[in-house]
Amino acid sequence: MEFGFFQLKFLMNYKSALHNPIFKFISQASKELQVDSYVIGGFVRDLILGRDFKKDIDIVAVGSGIELALKVSELLPKKPKVQVFKTYGTAMLRFEDTEIEFVGARKESYTHDSRNPIVENGTLEDDQNRRDFTINALALSLNESDFGDLLDPFDGLKDIENKILKTPLDPDITYSDDPLRMMRAIRFATQLNFDIEKHSLQSITKNAERIKIISGERIVDELNKILSTSKPSIGFLHLYKTGLLEILLPELTALNQVEEIEGQTHKNNFYHTLEVVDNICPNTDDIWLRWAALLHDIGKAPTKRFNKKQGWTFHGHEYLGGKMVKKIFERLHMPLNQKMKFVQKMVIMSSRPIVLSQDIVTDSAVRRLVFDAGEDVENLMTLCEADITTKNPAKFKKYHKNFEIVRQKIVEVEEKDSVRNFQPPISGEEIMEIFDLKPSREIGILKEAVKEAILEGEIPNEYEAAYQFVLKRAEKLGLKKIN
Ligand code: CTP
Repeated sequence: MEFGFFQLKFLMNYKSALHNPIFKFISQASKELQVDSYVIGGFVRDLILGRDFKKDIDIVAVGSGIELALKVSELLPKKPKVQVFKTYGTAMLRFEDTEIEFVGARKESYTHDSRNPIVENGTLEDDQNRRDFTINALALSLNESDFGDLLDPFDGLKDIENKILKTPLDPDITYSDDPLRMMRAIRFATQLNFDIEKHSLQSITKNAERIKIISGERIVDELNKILSTSKPSIGFLHLYKTGLLEILLPELTALNQVEEIEGQTHKNNFYHTLEVVDNICPNTDDIWLRWAALLHDIGKAPTKRFNKKQGWTFHGHEYLGGKMVKKIFERLHMPLNQKMKFVQKMVIMSSRPIVLSQDIVTDSAVRRLVFDAGEDVENLMTLCEADITTKNPAKFKKYHKNFEIVRQKIVEVEEKDSVRNFQPPISGEEIMEIFDLKPSREIGILKEAVKEAILEGEIPNEYEAAYQFVLKRAEKLGLKKIN
């Protein structure tokens, strides 16, 4: 066998990577039990790719994975607890900050959470056959006789070199064993910047509907991984082209159209959205802000209208989009907590700064923005800056410049009036005391008037100014100060 540079590099490195003492313990345990064992999957793949080491390592035993794990624990000085998952024939223990997962080699489908796990014993090759991709089927021997040897029956190494995702078996079999693998293919392609082999792509397209049997949680896990990359559009385009996106997020695919009436068109909001998501990535790692970028325009398909005067309009799309966010989160079993509320808020407010930046930026408009966005104002600005996808250089420059002014003004306004976490300078109780009032509508009116005056910049956010203002406004309501 001839070795290319890539393989040589690998051969030089892998032995040192197996210097983690855990591998010697596993090797020792294998020897004592007379069970062959191998490190397999992501650890080997990432080792070859030179990616950061994973915090979990998968070990496959040609025999009982559970017995091997128990033996390893026995040999380790700290005798860590072994978590046994009998139904799946797997076991897990922690060594330093790594999770070591043990599984017996299987003849049949290898899936983490298949509802009917099949645990028929097999050889290493049987097990490699049933893994998702050739690059994930690479194994390194932990056996004394050939410790560190690479077992690569499907030329996974070559596929790494050629940056291609291929299934070990006919893709129809691999994907029907676990349809989540269709998303894993797309996720790995996005993370690693790999191509997906033609037959695999065809098979994903053919079997896309099968994704419906997979739980929302597992799907979202993959979507989050795609969104966490530096260029999520790669993944979303694959999802789109294979038909998966239409099933998972039809609200997004509905944006992929350009209509023309009387010679007037509107932009394609699907491709625009993907650009916004890519744009935001260098500026935030916050997965929820990235979700907001992905969903910021979803209200546009259902609100789209045409009239002669204004052309294409999307009135109220932000508000409707906010409502749709909740439905999507529910459907995909995503958390319905503060994170969802944050995404909703970003979607609802997504047009606010851009409207501001198209015009002259006034203090009062900025004050209102800060008041409404509160703690999330910087995130909102980050989203809106990413939203600038105009190809007109003059406009691009103007919007960005105006955003700079908005950011500057946010700081100034905040220094002066601190409306970010607005607390009324004069409380309802105080107003009641001044005018000897019982709880009533007038108090609400006065409090609202104070807030408005501050936001409009008529008065500073201070007690004395607010007090004088209340006295004046109260007169109009026919109220008198009692002393
Ligand atoms: N695997 C599989 N099919 C799945 C999930 C996992 O064949 N649906 C196999 C692959 O061999 C994979 C290994 O199990 O490499 C470990 O799975 P997992 O930890 O989920 O993924 P990794 O490949 O380790 O990568 P990552 O941690 O980035 O998800």
